Amino acid sequence: MTQRTQVGIVGAGPAGLLLGHLLHLNGIDSVIVEDRSREHVIDRVRAGVLEQGTVDLMHAMGVGAGVQEAGLRHEGLYISFLGQRHRINLTELTGGKAITVYGQNEVVRDLIEARTETRRPLYFEAEHVGVDDLDSSQPLIRFRHEGMDHELRCDFIAGCDGFHGVCRPSIPAGALTVYEREYPFGWLGILADAAPSSEELVYTLHERGFALFSMRSPKVTRLYLQVPPSESIENWSDQAIWDELLRRMTTRDGWTPNVGRITQKSVTPMRSFVAAPMRYGNLFLAGDAAHIVPPTGAKGLNLAASDVLVLARALKAFYERGSSDWLNEYSDRCLRRVWKAQRFSWWMTSTLHRSPDETAFDHQRQIADLDYLTSSPAAMTSLAEQYVGLPMDVSFESVGLNECRRN
Ligand code: PHB
Repeated sequence: MTQRTQVGIVGAGPAGLLLGHLLHLNGIDSVIVEDRSREHVIDRVRAGVLEQGTVDLMHAMGVGAGVQEAGLRHEGLYISFLGQRHRINLTELTGGKAITVYGQNEVVRDLIEARTETRRPLYFEAEHVGVDDLDSSQPLIRFRHEGMDHELRCDFIAGCDGFHGVCRPSIPAGALTVYEREYPFGWLGILADAAPSSEELVYTLHERGFALFSMRSPKVTRLYLQVPPSESIENWSDQAIWDELLRRMTTRDGWTPNVGRITQKSVTPMRSFVAAPMRYGNLFLAGDAAHIVPPTGAKGLNLAASDVLVLARALKAFYERGSSDWLNEYSDRCLRRVWKAQRFSWWMTSTLHRSPDETAFDHQRQIADLDYLTSSPAAMTSLAEQYVGLPMDVSFESVGLNECRRN
C-alpha cells in the first residue's frame, strides 16, 4: 500500500506525539509510525519532571487537562548532604516558575488521546520500520502493519524514535559526529505504594552514593539509588533496597521516606550523548534519537519538547512561505539548548554521585560545591533557572499558539 503525507513521524513517544499535534494545529498533515504497542508506550515507567515551559506548551496546545488535574506543581527542591537537607526555592528565584511532577507515561497517554481525536493516522505495532531516500525530496518510510506492506512517501521525516530507533543509524557513516560520555554507575529505581514523606524532591549525596526521593501521586513514592552500571536487579531484595535507601536518605533531623510495597523496580545505565547535526537531508532527528542526558537533571522529555517546537516552527515556515531558512537552522538552534542541558545534567550527575575512580580531593570538592550551592543566592539562582528550564528558542505565537501560564 502506498501513501503520501507531508511529514512522516517515526516514533510515538513525547517527541513524535507533540510534533504531530503541533503540526495538526497548523494544518500540516502527518502520519505517525510506532513499532511498539499502545499499551507498552503508555505503561512504560519513565522519568516525570516537566519544566515550566513544557507545561505551558501543553496548555497552549490544548493537551494540558491531565497535567492540570493530576500534575504535582513543585515550587522548590531539596539538596541533601552531610545528613542535612537544604531547600532551594525555585519559584522565588525564577520570577514565579516551577516544575511539575507528572509521569512521562501520563503525558504520552494524554497525547495519544489527543491524536486519536484528530483522526489523523497513528500506527502502533508497525514491523520492519525503515527509512530510505533521505537525501531526496521525497524520503520514504517503509513498514508492515497487520500483514500489509506500507510505503509512505513524505516531504520530510521526523526521527522521533529514541536512542535505539532506526532513524539515526540510517544516516550514512561519517555524516554525524557523536559526542558521548558513559558514567561508571547506574540508577536502581523503584515505585512504592507509600505516601511521599516530602512534598518536594530530595537529591542526596551520601558517603555510600547518590539517592533521589521523588513521587508520582499523593500515594506513590518514586525512589532511586546509585548502583554499579551493570548491576542486576536480581541482586536486590526489596528489603535490601529499603535498607540502602533509608541509610542514604535519612537526615539528622529524622526525615526519612515512608516505606511501602514495591510495585516496580529496574536498573538503568546513565550516559550523555549528542549526535550532530540533528539533520541529514530531509530527515530531522528530535528528542532521544539525537541526544541522551543522564536523568539527574530531569531534562530528557523537556529537550524533546523544545526540539519539536523548533521543528514545528521550521515546517510551518516552509509550508506557509516556502522558506527553508528555519529548516536550515533547525539543528544549530536545537543544539544550543541541548548543550546547555547536557552541561547542567553532567554537572548535577558528577556533583551528586560517587565515582569508583574519585580521589579524596574530588569528594571534598563535591561537598564544597554543594555547600556553595546551598548557601549562595547566586548559585541557587543559577541552579533554579536551569532546573525550571532555560528559555525555549521559539515563541508559542510563532507556531500559532497563545502564550499561557497556569499555576
Ligand atoms: C522521577 O521522578 O522519576 C525523577 C525526578 C527527578 C529526576 C529524575 C527522575 O532528576
